[in-house]
Amino acid sequence: MDKTESPGVAEGVDALTLNNVSDEKLDKVPNGVEATENEGDVVDPWNVASTNDEGIDYDKLIKRFGSSKIDEELIARFEKITGKQVHHFIRRGIFFSHRDFHSILTLKEQGRPFYLYTGRGPSSGSLHIGHLIPFYMAKWLQEIFDVPLVIQLTDDEKSLWKDLKVEESIKLAYENAKDIIAIGFDPEKTFIFNDFDFIGKCPAMYQNMVRIQKCVTFNQVKGIFGFGDSDIIGKISFPAVQAAPALSSTFPFIFKGKKPVHCLIPCAIDQDPYFRMTRDVAPRLGFPKCALLHSSFFPALQGAKSKMSASDNNSAVFLTDTQKQIKNKINKYAFSGGRATVEEHRKLGGNPDVDVAFQLLKFFLEDDTKLEEVRSAYIKGELLTGELKKLAIEVVSPIVEEHQKARKALTDEAVAKFFEIRSLKFAQ
Ligand code: TYM
Repeated sequence: MDKTESPGVAEGVDALTLNNVSDEKLDKVPNGVEATENEGDVVDPWNVASTNDEGIDYDKLIKRFGSSKIDEELIARFEKITGKQVHHFIRRGIFFSHRDFHSILTLKEQGRPFYLYTGRGPSSGSLHIGHLIPFYMAKWLQEIFDVPLVIQLTDDEKSLWKDLKVEESIKLAYENAKDIIAIGFDPEKTFIFNDFDFIGKCPAMYQNMVRIQKCVTFNQVKGIFGFGDSDIIGKISFPAVQAAPALSSTFPFIFKGKKPVHCLIPCAIDQDPYFRMTRDVAPRLGFPKCALLHSSFFPALQGAKSKMSASDNNSAVFLTDTQKQIKNKINKYAFSGGRATVEEHRKLGGNPDVDVAFQLLKFFLEDDTKLEEVRSAYIKGELLTGELKKLAIEVVSPIVEEHQKARKALTDEAVAKFFEIRSLKFAQ
């Protein structure tokens, strides 16, 4: 949408015409799996892989997915409207792409409401530090915009994909919720739900899931997600579950009495296929298209060819890791952009772009000046790989330690508050 255009619900949408979805239209939605495989990068909700040492080519991904780059103009507009400097994730290009973020800024300018939505698929007992990125962004956006946030825990998704028992995924969802709450979300403005519990309690959510399911054919989900004939039917219908929270009427207890409310979703770009589908369907259901802010991936410790993933213990620093484990993992596994010998490194310098210890600093060291000093010293060969790793350990260890303290301090009542079906504070 052009930034001068006033965002709003598609006009003249008649809920009864919703079944007349043109296959042609949805099939044109770029298919992340196929398109990227042709170019050597694979990015979809289940796989992230690149053949390049520097990782995914995000500019190409923007073109293929049809999203927009977060450019200087958008950043300047954000800073003008909010009077705040953008987060270092945006300054450093970690959040690099968006859909319709101009519309959200227009809403802010006009003092009109919107809400934030993000989520986690509980596939392990603990989050890793890569998962912190969209949640840190969600927290910062919530503080800047003073809006409600809904967080979906897709325990159903992980049960379907990971062959986890239903009961096991519910337990993991609860454990993950504690990690998320420990990040410091405001309980007055944040609602957390796990699908296995919430869908039974909230008829509006199930009704919206079915409305969405009526809009999308098997051909279309095959095109978007790459499902095949032998995939279980749970997978085929699941995208509607992740789409539903992007329609505000899914939460009548939060948005009761309000017309359809715009939704902004911070996530890494692997989740985009779900929301391409959602954006296609929403106007036909009388809702605005959700806006998105896309982050790049924190790389696996082994290097940027894959993302840090909860399925591979050695690829990730988990929020449950001890200080010793963090030190050992970074020292042992963090891919180095340094040279083979100290002499060569001093002479030719290192490459911070592929160096995972430097990436840890780029994501988690807030001080821009310090980061630039480190980058420049590494490129010049003044700073050695071992020294860079030490700096990364010094930055990451306290973040994890503080997080563990905050999590430990959480009472069952404090956690239960986030899951309570209740109204949330609305600034507008
Ligand atoms: P999940 O659990 O795979 O990931 C949770 C969030 O973390 C992002 N992410 C990463 N970001 C940076 N670096 C990484 N290495 C990395 N790995 C994962 C994901 O993009 C996601 O934002 N289906 C979803 C759960 C979900 C959701 C949502 C996510 C439900 N509704 C709405 C975002 C928005 C999932 O399994 O996420």
